[in-house]
Amino acid sequence: MHPMLNMGIRAVRAAGDYIVRCMERMHGIEVITKSRNDFVSDVDRRAEAIIIDVLHKAYPGHAILAEESGAQGDSEYRWIIDPLDGTTNYLHGFPQFAVSLALEHKGVLDQGIVYDPLRQELFTASRGDGAHLDGRRIRVTRRDTLDGALIGTGFPFRTLDKMDNYIGIFRELTQVTAGIRRPGAAALDLAYVAAGRLDGFWEYGLELWDIAAGALLIREAGGYISDMDSGEPWRNSSNVVAGNPVLHDRLLEIIRKQC
Ligand code: IPD
Ligand code: CA
Ligand code: CA
Repeated sequence: MHPMLNMGIRAVRAAGDYIVRCMERMHGIEVITKSRNDFVSDVDRRAEAIIIDVLHKAYPGHAILAEESGAQGDSEYRWIIDPLDGTTNYLHGFPQFAVSLALEHKGVLDQGIVYDPLRQELFTASRGDGAHLDGRRIRVTRRDTLDGALIGTGFPFRTLDKMDNYIGIFRELTQVTAGIRRPGAAALDLAYVAAGRLDGFWEYGLELWDIAAGALLIREAGGYISDMDSGEPWRNSSNVVAGNPVLHDRLLEIIRKQC
């Protein structure tokens, strides 16, 4: 295993253990509203500090982009951190959230980890070395029609300007697939596409830390993730669509009809 992946796993496990321990004192968690329907708690912040501490000790020169504390350092290596993806779920005791950590080298995704601390499921990917769940190889599904497909999504909730487009896509996909799921933690949704638990996924308005690790997982699992607007391979855009290459294209066709 790549030594930086190993160190990243150590960091996400430490954060995940902390997040789960804090569920015992849920009523005492301090919550701040960042913007409409967008929350951060002291658990998010502390989990992020735990990850940064592990990474800094191992790699003091590496740069960091973290959801809650922003950017620091300048290096060809950059860690991208979402310490708690699915904060709204977490604050309600809804058991679907994750820690997401990616490493870029010279601007290219190199390592990706999504950790579900409740199920203790560890999704990992190293560039050129495949994607794994708890050490076992994972792949996207082979399904080639939307008929029978299970598709993940995230509802628009911060800005509502895409709501009409979104509802049009939702209406059509509801009619032609087996179902749509909105679990509430985008990093985990993408990991589920990589693991073949979802056939595809689309969401508007995500951030780099929601997507980076999941994007590498999907690619290394044989899938395709693109910028919804251009259809080009995803780099850092916020509107994404993903799936195996065939279903990705089918999803994109339906999304484009609404734009
Ligand atoms: C959120 C989750 C959610 C998605 C939001 C994200 P957070 O991340 O991934 O599923 O719909 O767009 O912001 O704020 O819980 O880290
Ligand atoms: Ca997130
Ligand atoms: Ca978060």
